[in-house]
Amino acid sequence: MAPNCPSSWVSMGGVGVLTNTDVSAVLDHQTSVMAQLTSGATLSQVLDSIVLALEDLISASRCSVLLLRDGVLRHGSAPSLPAPYSEAVDGLAPGPLAGSCGTAVHLGEPVIAVDVGTDPRWVQFRHLAIEHNIGACWSSPIRSHSQVVGTFAVYAYATHEPDGREQELVRRFSHLASIAVEHDRAVRERQAHHEAELARQSAEQANHAKSQFVTALSHELRTPLQSIAGFTESLGTLDLSPDQQTKALDGIGKAASHILSIVDDVLDLARVEAGAMPIAVEQLSALDVIADAIDLVQPLAAQRDVAISCQGPAMTVLADRRRLQQVILNLLSNAVRFSPDGAAVDIRTHLTRAAAEIHISDHGPGIPADLMARLFVPFDRLGADAGREGGAGLGLVLARRLAEAMEGTLDIDSVVGRGTHMTVSLPLPR
Ligand SMILES: Nc1ncnc2c1ncn2[C@@H]1O[C@H](COP(=O)(O)OP(=O)(O)OP(=O)(O)O)[C@@H](O)[C@H]1O
Ligand SMILES: [Mg+2]
Repeated sequence: MAPNCPSSWVSMGGVGVLTNTDVSAVLDHQTSVMAQLTSGATLSQVLDSIVLALEDLISASRCSVLLLRDGVLRHGSAPSLPAPYSEAVDGLAPGPLAGSCGTAVHLGEPVIAVDVGTDPRWVQFRHLAIEHNIGACWSSPIRSHSQVVGTFAVYAYATHEPDGREQELVRRFSHLASIAVEHDRAVRERQAHHEAELARQSAEQANHAKSQFVTALSHELRTPLQSIAGFTESLGTLDLSPDQQTKALDGIGKAASHILSIVDDVLDLARVEAGAMPIAVEQLSALDVIADAIDLVQPLAAQRDVAISCQGPAMTVLADRRRLQQVILNLLSNAVRFSPDGAAVDIRTHLTRAAAEIHISDHGPGIPADLMARLFVPFDRLGADAGREGGAGLGLVLARRLAEAMEGTLDIDSVVGRGTHMTVSLPLPR
């Protein structure tokens, strides 16, 4: 390995001797590495360019960087070494006889193997050296904050003792590599910190949402429980007529079934949100499920004199029968409950190339645009608590989660004063 045109030798930083050309090259590479680091290049890109630059300066050399991770040396950069060689040394454990790199990490100082054929530290790697034409190898530790974080190695094809210039170049380029490693570590730490902060914020939000949910649930259960307590007290302390007793028992029954339906919905919601809702998807006739849902809301529709119509093509959809019925029933009962007396509720099926759609439209009051975001907040009834529309406020959030669990969607369009239009979209059989 002939040194690079030693036109004039200068001392740089007080250590070693470099040519003017070397000094310019070192400075140029330093600038380019800084530019790469600030432009967001990956560690392996930066290390490759450092290694290639040194190979340019030390003729007939092949260089590599190994990085110390979890106590072993891992591949960092070796653009000119044969891939099988890099693979063989990947995972090398440092030790007193671990070639040039493993020994350099073990000792914390440069290790120069002038002839790997006779160097005792290369005994177990001799076959690799022969296979890949390695005659000499010297390796210097790369340090970050005085800790060894890797090695910078220079390989020669024949036996070779590095001169002062070569050793100084390696020292300079190892320093550049350590800057790149430190930068990478800082970026990773910043990313980890950012991710931890995001996780903390989302845990905090989830916690807040959970306590809001618990507060709303307790509030929701309180009213029927108080009503049960009131009727029970009347039954126990007052001399009620048989009619009054029946009325009180009826009140207890209604309050109990209200509690039961809230508990069922809450359990379903918890299950579907945890991804633990058993969904048995099968090929179904959408019209059959719609007809069943209409039958179930018919008594309520009759009370309100609301006419439910259904039109559109028959469609086979991929869905869980019970859960699809739960979705349609929620939407249909909303449409009926929020319709003025004597109004019409229309159901329409529609097939697109990708999906089967079920549209449910009513001519009710509609939902103001600024309240749309609250539609899927559990227990939020958008102020519809009082009066005849009182439900628990769980229907829509549950319907959307169920539709999504069946790989479908639930979308809502609403215009105040004109009505509301719900669209359930379901996958078609493949
Ligand atoms: N078709 C509709 N027209 C007008 N407002 C609606 C309609 N559907 C839902 N809303 C509004 O959205 C709120 C939430 O609906 P959601 O179905 O989640 O709860 P709910 O019907 O009140 O109770 P639940 O479905 O649990 O019995 C309703 O209280 C109502 O204010
Ligand atoms: Mg509802």
